[in-house]
Amino acid sequence: MLSLNNEGNNVKKLKMQILQLNALNKISLELTRTTDLDALLNKIIEYAAIIVKAEAASILLLDKEKNELYFKASLGKKSQEIKKYKVKVGEGIAGWVAEKGKSLIVDDVTKDTRWYQSIDSSTKFVTKSIICVPLILDKDIMGVMEVINKNDKKYFDKNDEEILNSFANQVVIALRNANIIEDLNNYFIQITEILIQAMENESLGPKGHFMKLARLTTQIGNKLGIIGKDYNNLYYASLLHDIGRIKVSRKIDINFKAKDSFRLVQSEISLHPISLHPIVGANMLKQINLFKDIVPIVKHHHENYDGTGYPDGLSGEEIPLASRIIAVVEDYTKIIYNTSIESHSENEEALNKFFSLAGTKYDPKIIDALKEIINL
Ligand SMILES: [Fe+2]
Repeated sequence: MLSLNNEGNNVKKLKMQILQLNALNKISLELTRTTDLDALLNKIIEYAAIIVKAEAASILLLDKEKNELYFKASLGKKSQEIKKYKVKVGEGIAGWVAEKGKSLIVDDVTKDTRWYQSIDSSTKFVTKSIICVPLILDKDIMGVMEVINKNDKKYFDKNDEEILNSFANQVVIALRNANIIEDLNNYFIQITEILIQAMENESLGPKGHFMKLARLTTQIGNKLGIIGKDYNNLYYASLLHDIGRIKVSRKIDINFKAKDSFRLVQSEISLHPISLHPIVGANMLKQINLFKDIVPIVKHHHENYDGTGYPDGLSGEEIPLASRIIAVVEDYTKIIYNTSIESHSENEEALNKFFSLAGTKYDPKIIDALKEIINL
């Protein structure tokens, strides 16, 4: 009878371990797939609560400046309500774990002097038992993870603590990935700003020109339903589309103003040394991994809708949509901000000529979107 019982327990334990491994495996897959930290942390506490059979679970992260913990993710009846609360480091069980960097199992919180019942009193939630484990990244405390109230029996045990620690490791990986992504984004923004400054210093546009241009291209992008990653690519490509002119303009001394470009016939433009700038720019950006998605946009921003542009003579939908938008906005802003056009009639003539090229030089739907934006 005893051995049957033991066998039953072993099977139970084995089933539990399989469940735990499955959950950890699913989280590992999610870690490689998603960059949505909140969704990931919610999933981790959901699995953790199921496996250790807990009524509620939370991840609290450390705000180093304020030396307090805040609720980053939580699960249970009061999960939304508790998010407004903060826990000082050293205060309560979570604060103790964050301060000491050690795990803690408490069977009955009312008998533990570290217990700080303020959140329970406010939310009317009754905490009985708890396991709280620290989240440690490179010896630094990032926060704590806790599960509350064992569902099927009174107390959590060492096995539950071990399980919770393996989920805590996944949380730490998710946090580290999020930090890396944030660093990369910062780096991306800094590099872009430096490049724009270089372009402005080379007199390729007055201060703020590229930002204005990017604003208009993204407004058009919005009208055309461009979203997500494509929207970001459109933004960065419109900021950097003329980056190749830094290299080209150093080698040649030409004045390629809007007035001139409209007077030149296409064959003359494609023979002009400045026509190399889309390829030069694409090659410059190709070296930076973060910019690889905008390389084709930059390369083709001087293609014409009817196939008469450069460098490859692409036409219609063959040209990336973002390139077609930038082509329109680049020429439009050349007219609008061209200081060499002095009279109103000359400006109007240039604009009429520009709009008449819808369907030949420019994608007509982009011209329509531009007209809507500028109320024409
Ligand atoms: Fe250009």
